[in-house]
Amino acid sequence: MKISRKLKESAPPHHVDAVLLTAARIADRVDCLVTEMVEDCRVDDVVMVGILRGSFMFLADLVRALYAHDVHPRIDFMTLSSYGGGTESSGTVQVQKDITVDIEGAHVVVVDDILDTGRTLQFACGHLEAKHPGAVRTCVLLDKPSRRVLPFEADYTGFAIDNSFVVGYGLDYDSCYRELPYIAEVTFEDPVEP
Ligand code: IMP
Ligand code: MG
Repeated sequence: MKISRKLKESAPPHHVDAVLLTAARIADRVDCLVTEMVEDCRVDDVVMVGILRGSFMFLADLVRALYAHDVHPRIDFMTLSSYGGGTESSGTVQVQKDITVDIEGAHVVVVDDILDTGRTLQFACGHLEAKHPGAVRTCVLLDKPSRRVLPFEADYTGFAIDNSFVVGYGLDYDSCYRELPYIAEVTFEDPVEP
C-alpha cells in the first residue's frame, strides 16, 4: 500500500510503499536475536536501555521474548538527539533525557533501532560506561554498514541493509511512520515543476 503522510512544507515529496521487512520476518528475527543474547543475560541484574524514540517497539518485543526465556530485566530509556528533522545526522550527539535506574555492576544491553554512522551508539556506550556497569552490550534491529563513520559494531544485529532511508517499527521520517508494523523504504520523488 502506498502511503504518504503530510510532513512540514520543507520536507521533500516522498512516499512509502516498498516493504523491506514484513512484520512476520521481524518477529522471527527477534526470536533468533533473543536466543543469541539470552545466555549473556543469565546474570542477576540485567538492564535494557532503549534509545528513544526509535527503539520503543523493538525493545517491547525483545523483553517479551526474553520473558519467555525466564529473563527479567529492568528497563529504562534515554533520549539522545543526533538527527534533525530530515534524513541526515547532525553529527553531534546530546543527552536530552538520561536513564534514572542505577546500573552500577549491572549487565546493560543498549537497544537502538538502527546503526548508521555509529555516533549515537558509541556515545551512548561511553555515557553508560561512566556509570560503572558490569558490562555494556548493544543490540540493533538494523545495520547500515556502508554508512559507518566510526568503527563501531553492535553485539547483536537483526538485519544488515543497504543504504536507503527506512521507516516503520519505531523508525521515523520527521516523526511520522513509527506506527507501521513493518519496515519500508522511503522513496523520494522529484519535485513537480509548476
Ligand atoms: P547514527 O548515530 O548515525 O548511527 O544514527 C542512528 C540514529 O539515526 C538512529 O537511532 C535513527 O534514529 C536514525 N536513523 C539512521 N538511519 C535511519 C533511517 O533509515 N530511518 C530512520 N532513522 C534513521
Ligand atoms: Mg534513533
